Amino acid sequence: MSGVLEIEGGRPLAGEITVRGAKNFVSKAMVAALLGESPSVLSNVPKIRDVEIVADLLRAHGVFVDHDQAAGTITMNPSGVGAAKSADIITHAGSSRIPILFCGPLLHRLGEAFIPDLGGCNIGGRPIDFHLEALRRFGAEVAKEPDGMRLRAPKRLQGMQMELEFPSVGATEQLLLTAVLAEGITELRGAAVEPEILDLVAVLQQMGAIITLETDRTYRIEGVESLRGYRHFALPDRIEAASWAGAALATGGDITVLGARQLDLTAYLNYFRKVGGRFDVTDHGIRFWHPGGELRSIVVETAVHPGFMTDWQQPFVVALTQATGLSIIHETVYEKRFGFTKALRRMGAQIQLYRECLGSERWCRFGRRNYEHSAVISGPTPLHGADIRVPDLRGGFSHLIAALAAEGRSSVSGIGLIDRGYEHFTDKLDSLGARYWRR
Ligand code: EPZ
Repeated sequence: MSGVLEIEGGRPLAGEITVRGAKNFVSKAMVAALLGESPSVLSNVPKIRDVEIVADLLRAHGVFVDHDQAAGTITMNPSGVGAAKSADIITHAGSSRIPILFCGPLLHRLGEAFIPDLGGCNIGGRPIDFHLEALRRFGAEVAKEPDGMRLRAPKRLQGMQMELEFPSVGATEQLLLTAVLAEGITELRGAAVEPEILDLVAVLQQMGAIITLETDRTYRIEGVESLRGYRHFALPDRIEAASWAGAALATGGDITVLGARQLDLTAYLNYFRKVGGRFDVTDHGIRFWHPGGELRSIVVETAVHPGFMTDWQQPFVVALTQATGLSIIHETVYEKRFGFTKALRRMGAQIQLYRECLGSERWCRFGRRNYEHSAVISGPTPLHGADIRVPDLRGGFSHLIAALAAEGRSSVSGIGLIDRGYEHFTDKLDSLGARYWRR
């Protein structure tokens, strides 16, 4: 992805910005619209690349999609749904991970589906074995083709039982989106319960689905004959909110994130406070600021909800380079999520990676294997400007923050990747007083 920002850092970011709907919910709610027999309307939709990709894929399948970008509303009418031309699908190969979620809805609507090879950030192996096992258990036939995956449903998909080895977000969504129209009852144990998934459950419930969530991460879904469209206001993007909070802490700034919701950020706010940041919850959002003085080092382990999200870790690491003492981050969701720290080290940060599960009482899935999935950050270290390249979405945003915190000039290339998940981020940098130039 192209685009270079020249950043003159070393100034606190201060001001107000707004976050809209969560990328990792909006894209899935758009796929859910395929299941309805009448139009769906989703609002609070951000203008980001992932939304455009899903809109294009829906259109390729005959769904009428009207995206009013100013209002942040998308209307989707699936009455003309039909098979897409393979060529229109293949152009999206490698662009995102969302296409895998089209499987169940397309199998229900058309009896077949063609899914392009998946993309998404390079942060680990990212297998899809749970998805494929689930689809086969529902009764789908799956075959690999040179440019993607072909699926068929010889008859109506059937409810089934499955337990996930790990509470995968995507696999949980796959099961929900498929089970709602399958015949009979589906039971999913060991599932993910992220707020974005619960918002998807709310959408499906509006459409007519019957879904129960038990206290032990088990979803029980009673399949129904048909679903209708929905009207829904997307929950706010808690990853973007935490990214700007990290920027406030790392630059010694003061950022009010309008639209941020405390309920979705409980784990994050605890760590933000422990490290020495301050926050104030208002009716319209959350103000995050650095109160001056020293930040404290801490130990953090990333986890599935309700733990500290893996996607919060990267901007937080930049802030921890300014904390006094040794901080430890143990990453338990993705095996290769510290690639972004290489650039931070070139900017003066002292970060050491380890294969062991540091700061944790038990071994995670990546312990005793060859993955550098624990980081020790020694601070405070002044950061200085450097030429850096965006490696992935969240790592890339952390590079931006590091460049904004660093003394001197940085050149950050590949910033087009950040448009995948951060709406109007350069406008937001303007309103926070950042000094940068596009090249
Ligand atoms: C979603 O990815 C998000 N992406 C990710 O956000 C987020 O980091 C992740 O959930 C965890 O919260 C979207 O929602 C589009 P997973 P997903 O399935 O669903 C393993 C961002 O920057 N696994 O929960 O792909 C997998 O390898 C992105 O916004 C299997 O082993 O994540 C990983 O170790 C990055 N087999 C773990 O589970 C499978 O079949 C969690 O992955 C599926 C997953």
